Amino acid sequence: MTLRNRIISEERRPILKKLLAKNSFARAIEVHNGISAIIGNDINIENEGTKLEFDALWISSLTDSAAKGYPDIEIVSLDSRIDTINQVMEVTTKPIIVDGDTGGDLNTFEYFVKKLERHGVSAVIIEDKVHPKRNSLDPNSIQNLEDPVIFANKIKRGKNVQLTKDFMIIARLESLISGEDINHALKRARIYLEAGADGIMIHSKSKLPNEVILFAREYKKLCQELNLKKPLICVPTTYNIIKENELRDEGFNIIIHANHLLRSSHKAMINTAKTILENERSLEVDPHCSSVHEIFETVGFNEIKKKDDEELEKQNLKGKVIIPAAGEPSEEIKKSFPIPVSSIKSGEKTILKRQIKELKECKLKILGDIVLVVDESFIINNENIDKKPDYVITKNKKNIRELKNQNNFVIKIGQKINREIADYEFTGIALFSKKGVENLKKVYLDCLKNQEGEFHEADNIGEASITDLIQEMANRGYEIKTMEIHKGWMEIHNLKDYSKATTELNNQI
Ligand code: SPV
Ligand code: MG
Repeated sequence: MTLRNRIISEERRPILKKLLAKNSFARAIEVHNGISAIIGNDINIENEGTKLEFDALWISSLTDSAAKGYPDIEIVSLDSRIDTINQVMEVTTKPIIVDGDTGGDLNTFEYFVKKLERHGVSAVIIEDKVHPKRNSLDPNSIQNLEDPVIFANKIKRGKNVQLTKDFMIIARLESLISGEDINHALKRARIYLEAGADGIMIHSKSKLPNEVILFAREYKKLCQELNLKKPLICVPTTYNIIKENELRDEGFNIIIHANHLLRSSHKAMINTAKTILENERSLEVDPHCSSVHEIFETVGFNEIKKKDDEELEKQNLKGKVIIPAAGEPSEEIKKSFPIPVSSIKSGEKTILKRQIKELKECKLKILGDIVLVVDESFIINNENIDKKPDYVITKNKKNIRELKNQNNFVIKIGQKINREIADYEFTGIALFSKKGVENLKKVYLDCLKNQEGEFHEADNIGEASITDLIQEMANRGYEIKTMEIHKGWMEIHNLKDYSKATTELNNQI
């Protein structure tokens, strides 16, 4: 769940009424779960300098049921509908219009109103059919209309339960859906408005908008006669040749695109599943899928990563990593690859890229101001060694297991240490905290200024290696901690090393 969108119920509920008072217009998009809600809420485009977005979210009974694998016949329980509404609320800030089906019986509707209002829903639309209804778009279903007096009573009962002025109960006319005419719909509109309905939705499954336009013209007259200004709503699913602006000009105040996010994802899912079956792999569907990163972005995973990084930064657990990557390779390597070793490809990736990937994935923890990664496995490594390892002698090697690796310190480090008496080999990987770096610099600058002649294993300070400097620090009493490992790393000196590394790395994938 993304934390991007946050709003309390009291603030969300009145938005729709305020929007209608200001613009007399709102466009709503259907959403049916968390991710579709994030998309419906956040999506926007620029059109000739104007930002276009949806003003409200429609929680459709058709798509809420379908998303759960059910037909749209009022079979999904109240709690399950509320669960969807909660999913949507958690990740959005826009006003929510809930498709309340028939509203159930009078008592059920009262509970529904109470729950919806408390959750911060702005409007519920209930249709004047007999419970349990059948979806209005199916040409073969029987569409039983409710007695308008009973339905008007349901509206009244709902209006009596709501606590705020923000919540709207809108009556949906199913006259045209059930084969009746505009006059039939108008008569019912009058009854429902007089019962206190906050608006009227006229539904139609005609391919053309003509009948809803005719209704809109008559509705205007009816409102004038009743001296009311109540929003008119339509759902242009079947007659979607008409544009929003034209409907707006005809007097419609809310236009609901009622099922398109679910229907488009349904089609995409079928195509994807079939394509994978046909190709026996998923490569071919990649261009039709959002990347995992895009999903991460949508659901707030990237925000979490950023915050984790900030926390690490605060605790000084994150820092810069320096990879000395441009070193001179051995003659043998140079002949085959006239580039730095780190730029040589091992499999698909360069060695450097692999190192960066590993570094990103591992969580660096600071165990001390200066920590050297040391390997004890050199003792059992019987291969001929044609390089000069940096050996390490430590203070507590014998007790290391009990001390859990954390309290062992370097006494001696360098290539001239006798292999027989060494505890470890220095891998070349070291960690310096901010303080560790400052101390290293201090010692180095002091040695540069004052050191004459040999400097540990180097002929002079100018030719000293990092191990000579570390030795100097250890001699001066700085704690140089060790982190013990057993294999899991290698240096590439010659072609044999290179092919061994490549084989091992490729086997890992
Ligand atoms: C819905 O979206 O669930 C509706 C509109 O009620 S319709 O499916 O056209 O009836
Ligand atoms: Mg519905």
